[in-house]
Amino acid sequence: MANVVVIGSQWGDEGKGKIVDWLSERADVVVRFQGGHNAGHTLVVDGVSYKLSLLPSGVVRQGKLSVIGNGVVFDPHAFVAERKRLSEQGVSIEPGNLRIADNAALILSLHRELDATRESSNSGTKIGTTGRGIGPAYEDKVGRRAIRVMDLAHPEGLPERIERLLAHHNPLRRGLGQDEIDAAAILDELTSVAGEIVPFMDRVWRLLDERRKAGDRILFEGAQGTLLDIDHGTYPFVTSSNTVAGQAAAGSGLGPGSLGFVLGITKAYTTRVGEGPFPSEQDNEIGQFLGEKGREFGTVTGRKRRCGWFDAVLVRQAVAINGIHGLALTKLDVLDGLEEIKVVTGYRLDGTTIDYLPASLSEQQRVEPIYESFEGWQATTAGARRWSDLPAQAIKYVRHIEELVEAPVTLLSTSPEREDTILVRDPFQD
Ligand code: IMP
Repeated sequence: MANVVVIGSQWGDEGKGKIVDWLSERADVVVRFQGGHNAGHTLVVDGVSYKLSLLPSGVVRQGKLSVIGNGVVFDPHAFVAERKRLSEQGVSIEPGNLRIADNAALILSLHRELDATRESSNSGTKIGTTGRGIGPAYEDKVGRRAIRVMDLAHPEGLPERIERLLAHHNPLRRGLGQDEIDAAAILDELTSVAGEIVPFMDRVWRLLDERRKAGDRILFEGAQGTLLDIDHGTYPFVTSSNTVAGQAAAGSGLGPGSLGFVLGITKAYTTRVGEGPFPSEQDNEIGQFLGEKGREFGTVTGRKRRCGWFDAVLVRQAVAINGIHGLALTKLDVLDGLEEIKVVTGYRLDGTTIDYLPASLSEQQRVEPIYESFEGWQATTAGARRWSDLPAQAIKYVRHIEELVEAPVTLLSTSPEREDTILVRDPFQD
C-alpha cells in the first residue's frame, strides 16, 4: 500500500497534527479532501510552530506537493490570509507546491454571515459550529448554485452565477430581517481575489492519477472525525462533510482502490467541542483533569473541549465505517497518575444492552454507558519510545483497547514531540 489515509476516529482533535506531520515527511503529495478552514492544527518543524487551518500539512516541508481536493469548501480570503501568515514565517506557497481543484466550491462572506446568524439565533438551530461558513457553503454546493474555483478563471460567466446564488440567498436574508446583498458586491469580492487563486487551479483528479502512476506516495489528510461525519456522526450535531475514509476518493478524484492504508487517529480518552450527545462525558473533576492535562482547547476557536472516558463502542464503529487498518493512539500520557481508568464497552438503552451507537439523536441522548474499570499507573508514559519504557498497566490498557475496537495499534504517541512515538508498523510500507 503506497498511500495512507489519515482520519479521526472520534469527534476530531485526536492529535492528527503530529501524526500527519510525521507521515508528510515520508509522503510526496499531501491532499485535503473535505472540510475547509474549520480544521486546525499546529505543526512543529525544527522547533518552529506553524498553525494551519485550510492548507495541507505538506506546505511547510520542502519538495512536497500539497493539494486541496474538490471535496473541500475553499474560502479564498482565508487562503490569502493563511498564505500571508506562512510567508511571514518564511514558508513560500506557490503554484509549484500547491494545487487547488478547479471543481472545489467556494466559501463567500455571505456563508460566514449565515453561519453566524444561525448560531446566534434562539431558534434551536445552534450546533456550536466554528463559524467559518462551512455548512452554508456545502448547502449551496449540494443545491447546485455554488460558485466554484474554476468560475474565478471565467469572469464573464460570474454575473450569471451570482444571480443564481442570490436568487436563493436574498429571500432567505429578507426572511431573517437582513439587508439583501447586491450582486455587484459579490462580483467585487470575487474579482478582487481571483488573481491570487487562479494560478493554483488544477485538474486534481488527473494530477493525482499521474502521481499515482509515477509511484509517488500520497497522504490523504482528513479533518474533523468520524462522529462529526454528516451521515455517520451524531446528526445534526456534525460538520457538513463526509469525514470518513471513503471521502478521500470522492473528495480528490482518485479511485478508492488506490487509497491504501487507513490510519485511524484515536485519543486514549474522548473529547468533543460544540453541542451534541457524548455518552462518556465527565462533567466533573475527571473531565477537568483530562482537559487541563491534555490542554483541550480548540486550535481554531479556542473553545474548551468537553472531556470523557475512552468509548470503545464508538471507536469500534469508526473502525468498521472507515475500514481502519491500524490506530495511531495519542495522548496516553494524559492518563498517567489516575488511580482508576474507565472504558465504555457497551450501552444500555431502554433496558437492553447494545454494542453500537444508534442513529437517532434521542436514542444517542438516552444511552447509558457500561464501563469497564482499569487500575491506573503511577509511573509516567510521557516520552516513551519503546514498549519496554511503558508501565505494565499502560501496556495492558493499550492491548485491551486493541481487542475492544478490533484494530491494532500501528503507532503510539506519548508526547507532542515527534520522537516520542512508538512505531509498530510504517503505514506507507505496509
Ligand atoms: P462546522 O464544521 O464549523 O460547521 O461545525 C460543526 C461541528 O463540527 C461543531 O461541533 C464543531 O465544533 C465541529 N468541528 C468542526 N471542525 C472541527 C475540528 O477540526 N475539530 C473538532 N471539531 C470540529
